[in-house]
Amino acid sequence: MRRMENKRVDGETARRGGNRNSRFLITGAKGCIGAWIVKNLVERGDQPWIFDTDPKAHRLEALLPDERLRAAGFIQGDVTQTESLERAVVEHGITHIIHLAALQVPACAANPVLGAQVNVLGTLNVFEVARRHRDLVRRIVYASSAAVFGPEEFYGGVTVAEDAVLHPGTHYGVFKQCNEGNARVYFATESISSIGLRPWAVYGVGRDQGLTSAPTKAIKSIVMRRPYTIRFTGGFDMQYVDDTARIFLKCAEADLPGARVYSLRGSVIQMEEFIDTLEKVAPGARKLIRVEGKQLPIAADLDDSALVRDLGEVPRTSLEEGIRETIGIFEKLNREGRLDTSDLEE
Ligand SMILES: NC(=O)c1ccc[n+]([C@@H]2O[C@H](COP(=O)([O-])OP(=O)(O)OC[C@H]3O[C@@H](n4cnc5c(N)ncnc54)[C@H](O)[C@@H]3O)[C@@H](O)[C@H]2O)c1
Repeated sequence: MRRMENKRVDGETARRGGNRNSRFLITGAKGCIGAWIVKNLVERGDQPWIFDTDPKAHRLEALLPDERLRAAGFIQGDVTQTESLERAVVEHGITHIIHLAALQVPACAANPVLGAQVNVLGTLNVFEVARRHRDLVRRIVYASSAAVFGPEEFYGGVTVAEDAVLHPGTHYGVFKQCNEGNARVYFATESISSIGLRPWAVYGVGRDQGLTSAPTKAIKSIVMRRPYTIRFTGGFDMQYVDDTARIFLKCAEADLPGARVYSLRGSVIQMEEFIDTLEKVAPGARKLIRVEGKQLPIAADLDDSALVRDLGEVPRTSLEEGIRETIGIFEKLNREGRLDTSDLEE
């Protein structure tokens, strides 16, 4: 695939609408949520810049035809390298940074030092570059995580408020908590505004790694008619990736000063309800999908009323509709011989 790094193929003149006053840089844009944010941006005529270490772009290629993808600019860069991030922001006149680049729970557990370098220092670099170029960068939205919260029992089993005490049980969650704290300090000391968003289990095409990617892998297995085992049980919250992407964009374009942090909420369910919904959408699913293990130690029932209060209505695709749409895209990719199933081989 002839993709050009560090430049757009068809240049700035091809801008077909979108928001002419905003120039987006998305770190980790080749990941699951990032690919859907890029999809939303190019489909409305924007030309986002993609900043990611990964030389491949398989999630983007699954979602967007080549001619659409050519509207995006590709920068192979590492958020731990301040200079390359700074160069990207200055050279391309970036006004909005959506910062997603991170290592997920298993990678942070396997190598906490590397996890901190990417997840904590990488986020500090984003804020530092925004501080140095406050004339350019107007908004930062960054991915925090529901993993900043402790287990359900810690909160007495009630809906967990946005400002409840954080009690992360993983290095990953502690790193995200640290980022929320640093964002608060940047606003208090430098007036750098930001919004941190806390997704739970995002699902949909492109969700192929991380602790909570299992429900999406189960959906893919059904399309491939293969058995699959989900290794956690109990309550969790499934958020359709396109909803998550749209909320990131809405936050990036909202005029909300301060260091804000919002929990996201999708379908808060028990694992059995997920299996029931799968069976309803794809009869026979129950025979292929096994479930075992413990509940994840993160409260699932999170209150997102602050997000709704500040943003207005947020997209909420029903679980049934999200599964249906995901199956539809997987089936299409499979028919075209383009469905990557390497994530099912573990
Ligand atoms: N997916 C979820 O359910 C979920 C839930 C809570 C929080 N989050 C957070 O949302 C963000 C995006 O999640 P995702 O599922 O899209 O992740 P992902 O793992 O699919 O993608 C992460 C991307 O970051 C890139 N990356 C990693 N290290 C980098 C570095 N040093 N510099 C530049 N790029 C780098 C990777 O190449 C990858 O493309 C992450 O910060 C994640 O912690 C995700």
